[in-house]
Amino acid sequence: MNLQVQGITKHYGENGSCKTVLQDINVEVLGGEFVSLLGPSGCGKTTLLTIIAGFQQPCSGTVLLNGCKVDKPGPDRGVVFQDYALFPWMTVGENILFPMQQQKIPQKLQDEKLHHYLEMARLKGSEHLYPSQISGGMKQRTAVVRALASEPELLLMDEPFGAVDYQMRHNLQEEFEALWQSNPKPVIMVTHDVDEAVYLSDRILVMSTNRGEIVHELLVDIDRPRNRRSNDYHACLNKLTDILKENHKSQS
Ligand SMILES: Nc1ncnc2c1ncn2[C@@H]1O[C@H](COP(=O)(O)OP(=O)(O)O)[C@@H](O)[C@H]1O
Ligand SMILES: [Mg+2]
Repeated sequence: MNLQVQGITKHYGENGSCKTVLQDINVEVLGGEFVSLLGPSGCGKTTLLTIIAGFQQPCSGTVLLNGCKVDKPGPDRGVVFQDYALFPWMTVGENILFPMQQQKIPQKLQDEKLHHYLEMARLKGSEHLYPSQISGGMKQRTAVVRALASEPELLLMDEPFGAVDYQMRHNLQEEFEALWQSNPKPVIMVTHDVDEAVYLSDRILVMSTNRGEIVHELLVDIDRPRNRRSNDYHACLNKLTDILKENHKSQS
């Protein structure tokens, strides 16, 4: 897998006004890396992720996935949305099957894969329940395996642990880590949470508060699964917090 984001610029404007949300963004993701886009609310993270997903076009610049230009959504990119976006009228099983049906995968293989993903996400026995009947954690795991079901090259996640309380958030991150280890894929995750970025990422790209740029890149070289109480972990959190403070100060 090779993703190249080259010189992406995005402006939003109406009635003669023009707001620059992304300004010359360049990112490269290779192999099975877990990359986070970290920045405060409104800094353009979702805009960048949706451009990579192909849901909207940049004003200039290109996204290349394995050398091919991205200009629309495709099964090579699995997306987990901020609010999970499960289809409420479909059961857990039907939600997971949906991308496979879109890809017209043979019925027998669909059944095998459904079984595999239900096992992987510990959802066996819940396949006939509707999203309204399951917990936040189960919804999140359903959304992740639905995104994995098209066997994407790249997983794109927008604040996937955002909608729950603090303790649940930690649990979900730990569950996701285990799921990811059992099925490693390159990931780009959007987050505004420093701890989440340090817990999950190999590399963190810090976005500026209001210039639409990537202002810092931090490698997280700590063994997985990470221990949130370790000295290495704390040192990394502190470093990232300092980077964010500096970033905020220089722009206010
Ligand atoms: N479709 C749109 N039209 C106009 N402005 C938008 C649109 N989408 C996002 N914006 C604006 O662009 C900025 C970045 O938004 P977004 O990418 O959602 O940020 P983040 O995900 O980091 O919170 C915000 O100021 C937001 O109001
Ligand atoms: Mg967002």
